[in-house]
Amino acid sequence: VSLKNFNTFGIEATARYFVEINQEQELAELFTNPKWLTTQRLILGGGSNMLLVNNFDGLVIRLNIRGIQHYIHSDGKIIVEAGAGEVWNDLVNFCVDHDFAGMENLSLIPGSVGASPIQNIGAYGIELKDVFESCRAFEIATKQVKVFNNADCQFGYRESVFKTALNGQFIITSVKFKLSSTPTINISYGAIEQELVNRGINAPTIKDVSRAVSAIRVSKLPDPSTIGNSGSFFKNPVITASQFENIKANYPNVANYPAGEGLVKLAAGWLIEQCGWKGKIVGNTGTWKNQALVLVNHGGATGQEIYNLSSQIIDSVFTKFGVMLEREVNIVS
Ligand code: FAD
Ligand code: EPU
Repeated sequence: VSLKNFNTFGIEATARYFVEINQEQELAELFTNPKWLTTQRLILGGGSNMLLVNNFDGLVIRLNIRGIQHYIHSDGKIIVEAGAGEVWNDLVNFCVDHDFAGMENLSLIPGSVGASPIQNIGAYGIELKDVFESCRAFEIATKQVKVFNNADCQFGYRESVFKTALNGQFIITSVKFKLSSTPTINISYGAIEQELVNRGINAPTIKDVSRAVSAIRVSKLPDPSTIGNSGSFFKNPVITASQFENIKANYPNVANYPAGEGLVKLAAGWLIEQCGWKGKIVGNTGTWKNQALVLVNHGGATGQEIYNLSSQIIDSVFTKFGVMLEREVNIVS
């Protein structure tokens, strides 16, 4: 089965076996066949955060569980539950249209609802953990569905327990979100405030915030339907305050954010740009002209070529700044 249309990098790679799951109970049925317990597996949502380096010689399990329900409590708390296969941005639009506040800053992030807890998606001042209530997840070893609450997921910056201690053991089937009918507008991050000013809006609704975030994203990030990419390829590195002082001494303009006691987060895009990579074309690959943190497929690139480019970038950032970038995109090889 070709995976070309199932990964936003647009890499031509194949899967030996492919199954689509439309209902939670189909997972228990699937794993009654012991063959699948010993076969290499790849859980697939929208394929917008993975790099397929080779053909996949195993079973791809594509989550297509649909459905969005909502429950309104008398205290104004709103619970929205969505199937893992719902498109993330469709869920955001559903909530914005219903005036359910809380996830409007996460507008236009590609991918599925089921993948959203995996790396605790985040953008424009909000992370998934700020609206996450719980999720249902199928445990492959026991064929049981378990419920994870917010603390169980051990969310961090682009991290969760599903990427660490429980990596590969659970398949998320649905997610519940806690939203509010009384919005707290959050426009302090990045260019949102300026975008609203440009639009002549001074008392923004959640719909205004959603539109402003979407417009900023479109201006910075390449659209995967025309230029293959997986968003930020690396995490923004977190370093100690003393490492930061050393870098700042040589590069006073270094883009940075506080990251907790004694820690500083650097903008990986800035570091990569300083190394001369921004907009550079390397064979069929390169970095995006408006955002050096985004690696792109200019057409016909292999996963290996993109991986090699990422290794070169890691080396050059380390040589110049002594900072080791970590890949954010999941490498499938
Ligand atoms: P996939 O790529 O299909 O899978 C990602 C990982 O999760 C894989 O390891 C996969 O095995 C696993 N997985 C997927 N579904 C499940 C499941 N149901 N159960 C268990 N494991 C599962 N991310 C951000 O955080 N913030 C951004 O602002 C952002 N911007 C982006 C912009 C662009 C243009 C692109 C292309 C990507 C961007 N991303 C961003 C990354 C991406 O959108 C998110 O990581 C998203 O959550 C991936 O969803 P997906 O369904 O495509 O996951
Ligand atoms: N910058 C540069 N050069 C570049 C790119 C960025 O100098 O080529 C500088 C910018 O000028 C700015 C800073 O770096 O001062 C931060 O840039 P930006 O606001 O674009 O955000 P980012 O840190 O590069 C992160 C997330 C994005 C998320 C945005 C908005 C990570 C790894 N990436 O990017 O998430 O959308 O913030 O909140 O944390 C993703 O995960 O795929 C993703 C796109």
